[in-house]
Amino acid sequence: MNTLAGLRIVEVEGVKGSVKIAFRGVRPLPLIYIHGSGLDGSLWWRQLKEVGGYAVDLPGHGLSDEVSVKTVNDYAFYVAKAAEKLVGKAFFAGHSLGGAIAQSLYLNFKEVVSGLILIGTGARLRVLPQILEGLRSRPKETINMFIDYAFGVKEGLENLIEEAEKLLFERRELLLKDLSICDRFDLLEDYRAGRIKVNVPTLIIVGELDRLTPVKYSHFLHSTITGSKLTVIREAGHMVMLEKPDEFNEALSSFIAEQKLKPV
Ligand code: COA
Repeated sequence: MNTLAGLRIVEVEGVKGSVKIAFRGVRPLPLIYIHGSGLDGSLWWRQLKEVGGYAVDLPGHGLSDEVSVKTVNDYAFYVAKAAEKLVGKAFFAGHSLGGAIAQSLYLNFKEVVSGLILIGTGARLRVLPQILEGLRSRPKETINMFIDYAFGVKEGLENLIEEAEKLLFERRELLLKDLSICDRFDLLEDYRAGRIKVNVPTLIIVGELDRLTPVKYSHFLHSTITGSKLTVIREAGHMVMLEKPDEFNEALSSFIAEQKLKPV
């Protein structure tokens, strides 16, 4: 494992050879943040600074190697193998696509999962057809619409929103790939039929104004995952960790404190 200030690179053996996966973070808690579509681990800078843990860059994102990934389970494979090398067992805090990956980690790589923090996510993540189609034919307008949906509160975040628009435009192909992967993710019937039982401590966080993964998705997870805790953050949308970082970090910190996470 290479360590630069705040950056760790872990090598994982994939189907086509070894792949480098990057993590950011200097406060060594067994807590791994997984970003959503088209983004990277820098999303979590407030959480890394104030709560601790490590934020992964998914394969093909940020500083991690490009690799063929077609499903949520493919992403989970790389995160599981890299996380195991980095910290052993961990809590996984996943946002949106990252929350789907966290659920897949629990289902397919249980041995690395101590607990789950499911943020602005769901058991099924269908994507509006006009977003998928629009990213192909009218990427600029579609990204602006997507960002408009993503932020519940925009006041005071104008610079961030402008940066996000530029970043996602540059990464429009990656965004389309990730959203297509979200669109195929569907555990709804498995949860409904009782085929999935989550038996690790679980915190669910959602912004009350979330338009990409509406609050009802989190209510569903909460009602299905016995013993889970649900925190709905007021006046926040899908990008809840950026829109209301203090409230978000408070919810995360108190859950982490209850779970008595020890530095690795
Ligand atoms: N958790 C719980 N219930 C869910 C769910 C989830 N993750 N996803 C869908 N459902 C429920 C709906 O509430 C609905 O129940 P109802 O009939 O009692 O109202 C039912 O399943 C059908 O869902 P619906 O939303 O009509 O259809 P769909 O799942 O095929 O999705 C979309 C169609 C894309 C229009 C819709 O999911 C949506 O608006 N998504 C948000 C926008 C988006 O693109 N988000 C990106 C996510 S990364």
